[in-house]
Amino acid sequence: MTVASIAETADILAAATGARNCALALYSKFCVGAAIETEDGAVYTGCNIESAAYELTMCAERVTIWKALSEGARRFRRIAVVADTGQLTPPCGACRQIIWEFCGDIPVVLGNLRGDTETLMMSELLPRPFDGKFLAEIGTED
Ligand code: THU
Repeated sequence: MTVASIAETADILAAATGARNCALALYSKFCVGAAIETEDGAVYTGCNIESAAYELTMCAERVTIWKALSEGARRFRRIAVVADTGQLTPPCGACRQIIWEFCGDIPVVLGNLRGDTETLMMSELLPRPFDGKFLAEIGTED
């Protein structure tokens, strides 16, 4: 994989946009698609899935990550999130936590249906994370 192709976001945004078409957003009507690329170039996709018991709803990012992890993928290069919003939709707080824990400081490629795009690093979206490293560093302080 060359630097140029890593920087090219069209393919991963297209994958996320396609996944968005599968969104089950009966209650919010807010459809989101995501796609994650592994270090060896595989792409997993997901969409948000809502429940009538609203709090059971799962965001597109976490569906995508659970799919990838459950298929054995472990090392990730970047994740894309697509929604039909003028102001690009960033991952929610819960998804930031999960992206950080399982993917680390990867680029998050945001996109919409008009072709606007912006890429942010996870360390910008979650600057002071609570994670396994933090827990190991504090040890058992008693
Ligand atoms: N949602 C996502 O799938 N990803 C985000 O980054 C933001 C929110 C979903 C959850 C819910 O189905 C709907 O959007 C409204 O919050």
